[in-house]
Amino acid sequence: MRAHTSTSLALLSVALFAVIVLKTSSGEAAKLEPLSLESSPPELALLMGELQRLTHKMALSADAGNAELANFYMHESLEQMKKIQTEVPEYEGQPVALLMDRMGLPTYATMQEAVNTKDKQQMLTALDTVIQSCNACHAATLHPFIRITRGTEVNPFNQSFQP
Ligand code: HEC
Repeated sequence: MRAHTSTSLALLSVALFAVIVLKTSSGEAAKLEPLSLESSPPELALLMGELQRLTHKMALSADAGNAELANFYMHESLEQMKKIQTEVPEYEGQPVALLMDRMGLPTYATMQEAVNTKDKQQMLTALDTVIQSCNACHAATLHPFIRITRGTEVNPFNQSFQP
């Protein structure tokens, strides 16, 4: 086993040496550089995926009549939306930050009111307006095929949403 490991190490060293020599002889610097972060702009889909997770947890909380937890995920969602506005104000020619202001963010005022009442039915009704705004914006930004739902039939998380 030991002999095997040192043979592998020796082979690896030879391979690395060959790479360095080849690189240098072809006129390129042999220095290893980390990938530039500037070359990859923030991925809107990833930020949206996080917003989806938070919205889903807000929905499960509302459905369980848990106003305290729904309030928590509502504030997390708002932070995520503001992060999206800052990091991706425009995406493929679509005014994301502007549409967030016009279509997305206002529905959270309704959600806040509903959360304050702690009434399950009001929370669910307000939740639906939030979800409708997600889908309205997807349609407005040429992504009508991304349709968000309440998703409260089952709890896929290892977390309790009960009050
Ligand atoms: C400003 C308009 C806008 C609003 C508001 C908006 N989205 Fe999006 N969303 C987009 C765009 C544009 C994309 C496509 C991104 C891409 O092409 O990479 C997207 C993509 C997505 C995706 C696909 C990415 C994935 O991980 O599967 C999900 C899910 C999503 N949005 C969830 C939501 C949810 C949930 C809300 C509401 C709480 C919401 N979005 C509100 C514009 C919006």
